Parts: sequence; structure tokens; C-alpha cells
Amino acid sequence: MSKKPYYITTPIYYPSGDPHIGHCYTTVACDSIARYRRMQGYDVMFLTGTDEHGLKIEQKAAAAGITPKEYVDGIVAKFKTLWSYMNISYDRYIRTTDDYHVESVQKIFKALYDKGHIYKGKYSGKYCTPCESFWTESQLDENGCCPECHRPVVFAEEEAYFFKMSPFADRIEKLLTETDYLQPKTRAVELVNNFIKPGLEDLCVSRTSFTWGIPVTFDPGHVVYVWIDALSNYITALGYLNDAYSDFDKYWPADVHMVAKDIMRFHAIIWPAMLMALDIPLPKHLAVHGWITFNGEKMSKSLGNVVDPFVLGERYGCDAIRYHILREMALGADSSFSNEIMINRINSDLANGFGNLVSRTVAMADKYFGGTLPQEREADALDDELKTAVLDAFAAVEKAMDETKLKNALEEIFKAVDRANKYIDQTEPWKLGKDESKKPRLASVLYNLLDTIRIISALLSPFMPSTMPKVWEQIGASEDDVKYDKLNTFGVLPLNVTVHKGDILFPRIDIEKEIEELNSIIQKNMEAAQAKLSGEKSPEPGKSEEDTPLLPEITIDDFAKIDIRVAKVLSAEKVKKSDKLLCLQLDDGMGGRQVVSGIAQYYAPEDLIGKKLQLIANLKPVKLRGVESFGMICAADTPDGVKVIFVDDSIPAGSKIR
Ligand code: ME8
Ligand code: MG
Repeated sequence: MSKKPYYITTPIYYPSGDPHIGHCYTTVACDSIARYRRMQGYDVMFLTGTDEHGLKIEQKAAAAGITPKEYVDGIVAKFKTLWSYMNISYDRYIRTTDDYHVESVQKIFKALYDKGHIYKGKYSGKYCTPCESFWTESQLDENGCCPECHRPVVFAEEEAYFFKMSPFADRIEKLLTETDYLQPKTRAVELVNNFIKPGLEDLCVSRTSFTWGIPVTFDPGHVVYVWIDALSNYITALGYLNDAYSDFDKYWPADVHMVAKDIMRFHAIIWPAMLMALDIPLPKHLAVHGWITFNGEKMSKSLGNVVDPFVLGERYGCDAIRYHILREMALGADSSFSNEIMINRINSDLANGFGNLVSRTVAMADKYFGGTLPQEREADALDDELKTAVLDAFAAVEKAMDETKLKNALEEIFKAVDRANKYIDQTEPWKLGKDESKKPRLASVLYNLLDTIRIISALLSPFMPSTMPKVWEQIGASEDDVKYDKLNTFGVLPLNVTVHKGDILFPRIDIEKEIEELNSIIQKNMEAAQAKLSGEKSPEPGKSEEDTPLLPEITIDDFAKIDIRVAKVLSAEKVKKSDKLLCLQLDDGMGGRQVVSGIAQYYAPEDLIGKKLQLIANLKPVKLRGVESFGMICAADTPDGVKVIFVDDSIPAGSKIR
């Protein structure tokens, strides 16, 4: 019998910065589902990848002085390293710069045009550069800014192609409200009210303002809108309109697209409209989860409040991280990532709960029977209570996974873990072990526990794939014993099973010590991020200027926008709780000002007082560690660290530098 196909996708991520724990959430969740389905016997296609075009990438590459492709190559390598670190079992990795994808997107765009779904027009309106989205006035937030990232929008006008969305409005509304496409379905209301009820607007699907995109074959100068390019990945990766793969008939329609709420609109409205226009069946489910926030704040690389997943993985192992993010995150709702919650979870669920169950059981089998259980048995009514609880968990997990509720699945499994630990307390094997006549009963108790661990560990293996094979080794389970069709039944391990004592699976963490260390890592990250934001680079000593590529050419008019003045340092002091920042009071010839500068490691306050230096006077003010900074002082990165550019004392404060 041929296996049933199952197709699951993550979003394709922007390689515009390093991957963080937020990216891990969707990817780990999809990986767990993919592994669970494989265990159930499905022929799984698990797709992830990167979305590499667009203005944002073009700009970042230019700032780094390299080509966009060179820029994304570097970050894609980091994504792939993280995925192997997190034990992500993707079957295919798509990059939107792959030739076959480019070819397919060009054909898709042409097909939509030929069928009359796309027409040429002119766009003028508000555009959010970071989000690459045009917005109507009514969609802007209360400050007239982008409704998604809340940054300022700009007026933009260009000749462009448009995709007619309105013909699909009714079908999309039905899809969202009358089918179980959207998970959780409660989100349908906001989509219908915000986008469909007001009338679906035509979507601008080409750009002429930048070049880092897929060219429109029949109109050079236009590149395909990044979302048309990106969404297509789910079918181009299967070989739709290309010869690189031939899996489209087998795997399409997708079983699940999983995304976070920030990109729900694109997957709930635009993607179905594209598929309808192309006459392609719609995917079965769109599972939407919330954001992971960090200590209540939005997780953000630029704020520096993100704990690097590599750092966490090194400290606790990737399975503990996987468990934590999946256990905290409910489908649909935001959830907070906090070091305290993470460590408490690892200690309570993994070290004390599951880890302890395994180590106690194996240790007792070792101690009382030399590792191999005898044949004689004696059953008790208590045994059935345990077995019922474990089999209930099996069924509950199956239901939760069908609804993409991974948190619930883990909760159900840990109910069974608790029940098994309670069974140990109730049966008191250490007492049975003292009495030779109770040995048959003791053998039953330990066998039931080992068989319980077999089922529980197999159910946990999609979520914590690195640890569970070690458990199977310890409890003497064969590969066959942990197959899915053996998980809803007891009595699978051989009667005379042999255990093998092993290492502790999840060592207990000293919470106070760990929190302190993690906080100091975060503190350092935030200082580095803030220094970067303020334009104060803090290079590693020994790094010479040759390592810094020359920035792209600018005109004299560009340069004229920078107001550089001579200023005299009146006083200087260290910024509290920072070892990098100094707060300077300057005479700028204009009444004075305060500037915070990341030079505390290189200058003592007294080295600066009375000296004259160069000030970038019209830089937008920022707050650094809570202290306001109005401008920036000029300094050079040298092999010996940062050196401030001092100027001749005869030049009056306030003089303009050009
Ligand atoms: O939007 N919490 O890419 P992207 C939870 N290229 N999930 C998070 C998260 C957080 N803090 N941060 C990121 C794009 N994610 C487009 C997608 S798809 C055809 C194109 C996850 O790199 C979450 O799944 O901004 C979110 O939807 C996705 O990363 C967005 O990643
Ligand atoms: Mg995004």
C-alpha cells in the first residue's frame, strides 16, 4: 500500500538579519508535526526556505557594500546552521533566488496576465518601505503610519501592474467563514471586517523603484511584487511550472501552511485569490499562531532583547528549547518567552517529571533485578488505572495534533508522566524490593512503568527528537517497539526486557545562577545593539579599517545633509549600568547639548574634559540606556580600539565642518 502524502510548510523567512528564537517557533512546530505524521506513516514533504528579494534586502546589501546575493548567502547559511542545530528535518529548502523558482514565478505572472487577472495601471499612495506594502489612507494607523510595523510611510507613485481581487471576494469570505481552512477560525471575523467587507482592493503586484526582484518577462523594468514571488514558493518548490521537481500532483493541495499572525492576511486572502485565479485547488489548512514576546516586549533583534537560540541550545540542549517554545505557545495567542519560565519548565517537566521517571525506573530495574526483569508477574487494579491514563493520552494527542494544538498535545503527554510518577508513589517499589515474596509484583510494576515510558517517549519523540532515542536505549525498547501502531497498546516490550542505565537526560538547572548569567548576556546584547543604533560601532580590537568595505557613492547634496560642528567637552561621566557609554555635556556654540557615546572603554571622563571634537549635530535624538543623546561624536575605528577625532583648540565651538 502506498503511503498517504502529507505536505506542510513554514513561511519562507527574510534573510535580512540573523535568525532568532521567533523564527524557531514556526519551524520547530512544523518539524514536530512533520515528524509526527511520518511516525503515523504518512509520506511527508516538509518545506522551509528563504524569501530573498525586495527593497529591504537591496538596501541592507548596499549598506554592507556587497551584492544582494552575497548578502543573503551569508544569512541563509546561518539559517541552515540553526536548523541543523535545532534538529529540523525539512525535506526541501527553497530559496527564491533559485533558478527554477524564478522561472516559475515569471510563468505564473504571465499566466495571470494572459488570463486577464492582471492589468497595467498607475499606483500612487502610501508605501511602507520596511514592510514593502502599499496602504490606503483608511488602513494607516492613528498616527498615519504603517498599520503593521507603525513606522512612517512615504508617498510613492509608479506605473505598476495590478491584480484584480474583487472577483474572488465571495469565495474567499466563504473559505474563511464556512470551511475549516483558518485555524483558529475565530480570526476570520477580523479578516472579513477589515479587508473583505470594505471591498477587496486590487493589489499592486509589480515594482519599478528597485531591481532586486524577479523581472516581469514582458515588461523589463518591472519586478514582481515580493509577496507574489514569496507565496508562489509553496507550489514552485513542488515543480509547478518548472522541471526541477515533479511533486506537484502528489503533494498539492498542502495539508498545512503554518504562519504567525503578522502574515495571516497574505495567506488568508491574497494566496487563495492567486490560486483561484490560476485554477489551482486551495490548501487544506492555514494554522496561525501568535508572537513570541520576550519578557512582555516584542522580541526584536534590533532591541537586543533576544536570547540567541545557539546560546540557549548550548546551555540546555536543543530539545529543552524545543519543548519550552512548544509548551508555552497556544495556537492563536501570543506567548511570552522568559528565562524564568523556560528554566522552571525544564526543571519541573523535563528534569523532575519525565527525566526522573525514566531514571528511577531504570535504576530500580537495575538494582532489584540486575537489569533484566524475571518472567513471574502479579497484576493489580492500580495497573489498569495507569494504562488507561496512558492510552487516554495517546488518543488526546492524536486529536490535538489534528487540530495543530501542539501545546495541548504536550499537556496531555505530561498528564501521563505525572500519572506514572504517582503510580511509583502508590506502588512503593522500594518496599516490594525488600520482600522476596513480592518480587513478582515488583516485576509487574517495573514492567508497566517501562512500557509506559515506551509509549510516552515515542509520543514525545516528534517534539524532542534528539533525546528520545537515548530513552529507548535505556529502557531496552527496539525500533519496532516504538512504532506508531504499537503505541495504543501495552505489553509490547519483551517480558524479560533488559534496561541499560545511562546519563541523566535533563540535568536540573540552578535557576538563580542561570538567570543571572542569562541576564548578563542580554545586558551585553542590548548595549551592543544600542551602540549600533546610535552609530557608535564597537569593533573588536585588532580589526583594521581595511576590513570595512567602502560604502556606496553619495553626492555632495547627500553630504550636505549632515551637519558637523566643532564642540567642546564641558563635563563627562559614565552612564549607570553600562560599561560602554559615557554621557558628555558639550558646548556646541548653540547653547549646549548632551551626547551619549560608546567610548567608555577607551577614554576616562578626565581624558576628554576641555577637549574639542567633531559633533554630528543634526542626528535624530535617541535614548541609550535611558539617557537621551542629541547627536554623535566622530571617532575612528583603529586596531587599538576607538579613537575620538579631536580638533585644534583654536577653532571656536559651533564652527561648521565641511
Ligand atoms: O514575513 N514570534 O518573513 P519573516 C513568533 N518572508 N513567530 C515569529 C516571530 C516571533 N517573535 N518572529 C518571526 C516574512 N516569526 C515573509 C514570509 S511566506 C510566503 C513569506 C515567524 O522572516 C512567524 O512564522 O518576517 C512569522 O510569520 C514569520 O516568522 C515571518 O518571518
Ligand atoms: Mg515579517
